Amino acid sequence: MVIIAIDGPAAAGKGTLSRRIAETYGFHHLDTGLTYRATAKALLDAGLPLDDEAVAQKMARDVDLAGLDRSVLAVHSIGEAASRIAVMPSVRKALVEAQRAFSQRLPGTVLDGRDIGTVVCPDAAVKLYVTASPEVRAGRRFDEIVASGKAADYAAIFDEVKTRDERDMGRSDSPLKPAPDAHLLDTSEMSIEAAFSAAKSIIDAALENN
Ligand code: DC
Repeated sequence: MVIIAIDGPAAAGKGTLSRRIAETYGFHHLDTGLTYRATAKALLDAGLPLDDEAVAQKMARDVDLAGLDRSVLAVHSIGEAASRIAVMPSVRKALVEAQRAFSQRLPGTVLDGRDIGTVVCPDAAVKLYVTASPEVRAGRRFDEIVASGKAADYAAIFDEVKTRDERDMGRSDSPLKPAPDAHLLDTSEMSIEAAFSAAKSIIDAALENN
């Protein structure tokens, strides 16, 4: 059983990259951000507050990994709420448990998130830390929104990227940071294709030595 851990900040392109890697190697894929988003959505749908840790933990325990729907969970307001409940240790504990169980699936798994290489799967066979400058990440998000036919405000998106980074990197439980043994992949000046082929070379080399 092989685990590939992929971490990095919001909008760095790790989702697209992770899905493609999982497909290439025939591994199961879990976007762990969706587990935080599903917890937040359950609270919002039930009209419950986002700052009650005991209630949030209960919702986290009830998250069904088989029912995570990216198209429903991708909306911005759910991402914001997710980053607020992601600072709660008991919420993280419940979700990390489910993520670890998923990571054991055969023949292998790709998990992407913020703390996979550092906390969830510290023994992963390969760890990638995918990043890009805040300007590039905001630009990619801007292009995505415009391509979907909606209006976008670059300055507002840039502020959101910075705020999300500060919350993800600044929290005391499992802050976003590269594991000491992670391979850094800065995609600021790379196309998706180039990022994928760089990631594949790193993974192939690591698996060969495994
Ligand atoms: O990657 P994303 O935008 O779907 O993540 C939503 C929020 O969930 C993000 O602000 C931080 C949190 N998250 C986390 O704390 N740990 C993870 N492994 C994945 C996401």
